[in-house]
Amino acid sequence: MRFLLTGGAGFIGSHTCVALLSAGHDVVVLDNYSNSSPEALRRVERITGKKVKAYEGDCCKAQDVNRVLENEKIDAAVHFAGFKAVGESVHIPLNYYENNINSTITLCRCLSAHGVKRIVFSSSATVYGADNQPPYKEDMRVGGCTNPYGWTKYMNEVILRDLQVSDPEWSVVLLRYFNPVGAHESGLIGEDPSGIPNNLMPFICQTAAGVRDMLHIFGNDYPTPDGTCVRDYLHVMDLAEGHVKALEYAVEHQGTEVFNLGTGEGYSVYQVVNAFERVNGLTLNKEDAPRREGDLPESFADAGKAEKILGWKARRSLEDMCRDAWHWQKMNPRGYHG
Ligand code: NAD
Ligand code: UFG
Repeated sequence: MRFLLTGGAGFIGSHTCVALLSAGHDVVVLDNYSNSSPEALRRVERITGKKVKAYEGDCCKAQDVNRVLENEKIDAAVHFAGFKAVGESVHIPLNYYENNINSTITLCRCLSAHGVKRIVFSSSATVYGADNQPPYKEDMRVGGCTNPYGWTKYMNEVILRDLQVSDPEWSVVLLRYFNPVGAHESGLIGEDPSGIPNNLMPFICQTAAGVRDMLHIFGNDYPTPDGTCVRDYLHVMDLAEGHVKALEYAVEHQGTEVFNLGTGEGYSVYQVVNAFERVNGLTLNKEDAPRREGDLPESFADAGKAEKILGWKARRSLEDMCRDAWHWQKMNPRGYHG
């Protein structure tokens, strides 16, 4: 089958291209490269030996989306495109609401007009908010987000559900990702954050590489076993393989279905740092620091539904995540611009 990946040049999108091509599917990418590089797609072609058809364009512009749909026969779309920096979303909320919501509405209108009524959406564990206790289950009440980015994910879920109710021919799969980290084992593609990384694993990698002086561990007084926050880290190639299953499911079913994509296991910041040092044989410059505003003590998935219905289960370990993240960083000290 042939799938449209909006934002397909980004971190998760590029790894999903590899997983889909390796599973025998074709991919078409629509990306405006606002947070990525076309080089990622050339690397995908190197890894897989297959062609990636790419269009430069903006998902908020109907003419850009229609150009793709007029040229390509598409079976279903994955909508990765969007802005994702939590802190930035607090400072420029209108940019986040505009890009993350308009892109979905425009994409769905264009898909529908071309008779492609199947979409897999990149949602986030952040929609569980502060009101639920982990392990998070798909049927928990969502909302209570603490920043505009999180609200865009919540609102997109509502919009897509409503669309499906209005037209039962639609198949909507909402994927709630936990914490994707790591890189393809080749070291050719990986996470290439612009500026100072917000997330733990890229910050660890840049500290190990000497790009950053010091890793700050935000908060050691949380009500967790070692006092640092617990997250459900997930290897990005496991996540990518989850999209293959989700797309195959979307093609076979109608309705709206939600799946957590996580391992179901939580690791603390100290555990991640220790694993990274142990696996890669190095010592990080690190120090304990005050809590970061907005962080929840614990977040991890109940991953049972995706296993039961999609037949998907994360199989790579925390050690694999740490090794592959560092391999990518060493091979590409300046990301795709090196
Ligand atoms: P990313 O920034 O690497 O990828 C997003 C891609 O979308 C980029 O290539 C960017 O250039 C493109 N893009 C943005 N706006 C666009 C537009 N209007 N038109 C066309 N292209 C556009 O991010 P990622 O980490 O790969 O995340 C992919 C999706 O998954 C995002 O929707 C993100 O919110 C969601 N998500 C990510 C995480 C995470 O930790 N990485 C967690 C939960 C959910
Ligand atoms: N952390 C540090 N030092 C750093 C960076 C992070 O100690 O330099 C800590 C954080 O305080 C947190 C943990 O590492 O305890 C994980 O932080 P990340 O920023 O990597 O991940 P988050 O769980 O905070 O955020 C992720 C995604 C968001 C999403 C959120 C909720 O990046 O997009 O999960 O699902 F909204």
